[in-house]
Amino acid sequence: MSGFRAGATSDRDGDVVTALTREHDAIRHLLDEVEVREGTERAEAFGELLRLLIAHEMAEEEVVHPLVHRSSLGGRHVVRGRLWEEEEIARRLELLVEVSPDDPEFLPEILLLRVAVSTHLEAEERYEFPWLMHGTRRPERARMARAVHAVQARAPAEPAALLAHTRRTLREVAGAAGGG
Ligand SMILES: [Fe+2]
Ligand SMILES: [Fe+2]
Repeated sequence: MSGFRAGATSDRDGDVVTALTREHDAIRHLLDEVEVREGTERAEAFGELLRLLIAHEMAEEEVVHPLVHRSSLGGRHVVRGRLWEEEEIARRLELLVEVSPDDPEFLPEILLLRVAVSTHLEAEERYEFPWLMHGTRRPERARMARAVHAVQARAPAEPAALLAHTRRTLREVAGAAGGG
């Protein structure tokens, strides 16, 4: 078990890209744990994954995506794609919390979640984080790391809350882009 807590490293890292990248690594590690563990250990790892994923995506939707979206036309496309991926992750989590980790259906659902999450993390690392590194200065990234920490401290571990949050953010960015 990783013992990783969402937002726990943000202040120390002082850089939102470092903090979010570390969370990506922790998410990947927890996906491995859920797959290889059994019984209560699997249930615990899944609980940890659920909390971290929801807190992570909510914080990105409040702190990171809006900034990248405002930056340029390219930024708008990058963010729209990431939000669609986050919506799929939230829908998959909603399904998964209805299935017991001991149920034969659980592992196939986890594998589908894994594909969705891996694609999403890679796309952020490839298209969004480099923009943040080059498009912002370090003090701004430090301020963003603190904002991420604040969002994560109050994020509920409920997939339905993430789904509502993601859809609201999608509507907001669509509105900000003049409905297009
Ligand atoms: Fe994300
Ligand atoms: Fe992310």
